[in-house]
Amino acid sequence: MADLSVEFAGLKLMNPFMLASAPSTATGEMIQRAFEAGWAGAVTKSIALEPAVDVQPRLSRLAVGNRIVGLENIELISQRNLDDWVEDFAEIKRRYPDHILFASLTAGVIREEWHSLVERVQEAGVDGLQLDFGCPHGMPGKGMGSIQGQDPGIAGQITRWVKEVSRVPVMVKLTPNVTDIAQIGRACEEAGADAVAAIDTVSVLMGVDLDRLEPLPSVGGSSALGGYSGAGIKPIGLRCIAQLAKGTGLPLSGIGGISSWQDAAEYLLVGASTIQLCTAVMLRGYGIVEKMKKGLGAYMEEKGFAALSEMRGQILPKITAHEELNFAYKVVATIEQALCTRCGLCHTACKDGGWQAIEMESREVYPRVLADKCDGCSLCAHVCPVERCITMMPL
Ligand SMILES: Cc1cc2nc3c(=O)[nH]c(=O)nc-3n(C[C@H](O)[C@H](O)[C@H](O)COP(=O)(O)O)c2cc1C
Repeated sequence: MADLSVEFAGLKLMNPFMLASAPSTATGEMIQRAFEAGWAGAVTKSIALEPAVDVQPRLSRLAVGNRIVGLENIELISQRNLDDWVEDFAEIKRRYPDHILFASLTAGVIREEWHSLVERVQEAGVDGLQLDFGCPHGMPGKGMGSIQGQDPGIAGQITRWVKEVSRVPVMVKLTPNVTDIAQIGRACEEAGADAVAAIDTVSVLMGVDLDRLEPLPSVGGSSALGGYSGAGIKPIGLRCIAQLAKGTGLPLSGIGGISSWQDAAEYLLVGASTIQLCTAVMLRGYGIVEKMKKGLGAYMEEKGFAALSEMRGQILPKITAHEELNFAYKVVATIEQALCTRCGLCHTACKDGGWQAIEMESREVYPRVLADKCDGCSLCAHVCPVERCITMMPL
């Protein structure tokens, strides 16, 4: 069996899977249940000096058929006070000394507030701190959350304040709602951060209730912009981790749309050392970690990776500037007639969204690729509902 343990910012995790700061880490009791289920670590719901009061309801979804592809939330930070958390930390660490516990902290741009939070939680025995520079809703209005992660000067300043008193590793959690996430990562690195977690949620407006003429999620008729999470944000998370891996030297914790071992493997291959999950756990429970561990271990064996460190960032050199791509590499669409259902989707897409390179006179005949007109864009292969029916063959 491949070794799933990982060294992260000086901490030893038995596997790379951690719970992200979220409703699934809202209490010590929940975190302990997650550890029993097989998670190696957890980041608490974000804690401030004062607990939050939330609106109801505070979630909305984007579904394709029955499958939820994304959630929007307008939830704030922890509703529990610091004293209760401090009691929980001591209890969790007493019962699970080998599991890794990060306290997620949030405060204004006020040195004393950060100092008192850090001192309280590290006294209680947490293994690490995660600074919440990511929440895009509610908190920025209070001078907290993503407003801090959108300014390299502020992010660096807070990191420096925290490092003045911290005795455990400090991970900054960044927002993707910026022009250049690597610039923010570098500012935190220069200020002494030990690791970066990315991404927090993507700022969105989920939708509009057309009958009631209300934005979603409707809180008695009105709403606010919120944070999007789940499968739909995975490509944004991967992009951010790739940029941070190339632009900083810090260990990275990958977050965003991860729900399977395959998603986790992709994050590891672009440079993450650990993995955090939120939405998938909210939808399917703590139990999903077992399948992820098994799947990742089997994949590592198949590919000959003896340790996660061998896998980390493997494909980064293959992510190049666009102008460095091989413009001489050419492909052409090829249709496997035995699999084709003559649905006509490839023909329509190529006619109105491509190069008019797929002929199909009627549903009675099979579509035919005109190789000299095909520009190799691959739209037909993506709209085709039958797996392996259309492939892009290298010329
Ligand atoms: C309902 C909800 C509450 C969240 N609360 C926090 C929080 O308190 N602190 C924080 O840093 N991130 C919070 N997040 C963001 C998640 O930790 C995570 O960064 C984000 O959801 C993307 O990961 P995912 O696609 O696996 O959900 C929250 C996310 C959701 C959906």
